[in-house]
Amino acid sequence: MSNSTARKQLFSPYKLGSYPLQNHLVMSPMTRNRAIGNVPNDLMVKYYAQRATAGLIVTEGTSPSENGLGYSRIPGVFSAAQVAGGRFWARVTKAVHAKGATIFIQLMHTRRIAHPLNLPQGAHMLAPQPLLHIPMHRG
Ligand SMILES: Cc1cc2nc3c(=O)[nH]c(=O)nc-3n(C[C@H](O)[C@H](O)[C@H](O)COP(=O)(O)O)c2cc1C
Repeated sequence: MSNSTARKQLFSPYKLGSYPLQNHLVMSPMTRNRAIGNVPNDLMVKYYAQRATAGLIVTEGTSPSENGLGYSRIPGVFSAAQVAGGRFWARVTKAVHAKGATIFIQLMHTRRIAHPLNLPQGAHMLAPQPLLHIPMHRG
């Protein structure tokens, strides 16, 4: 395939199942650690809108539960502040759709690679198997 044919194909529309995409470009999920208090914000609306010339955007890993917020400042998609009444995720999707892109959310639970200091109060580190407790000694 020549370069110009490949380029034409890259920028031509594509149908992904029932989702018509404006081109073949897909943005992979990238954690940016910008969601202060785990709530998406204006900076994130701008970030995704700036990249919405892609066909498909997969969001940064986003926790479906407070127990999955084990990295610093990753967003969640479970509280009223994050989703209710056209709040922040709805603002992200609206801005992205306005530029013609499709957006999928990546659900990510940090499980055993969480750090307890990143978890909100009352949240717990969870893992598919029991966590081995290794006492940490200093000095
Ligand atoms: C800054 C950064 C953050 C990333 N965050 C995520 C993430 O949240 N979820 C995920 O599945 N992959 C994440 N990745 C991996 C990318 O989605 C992608 O798979 C990878 O960078 C592309 O593949 P390559 O590096 O092998 O070329 C991240 C990568 C980078 C560079």
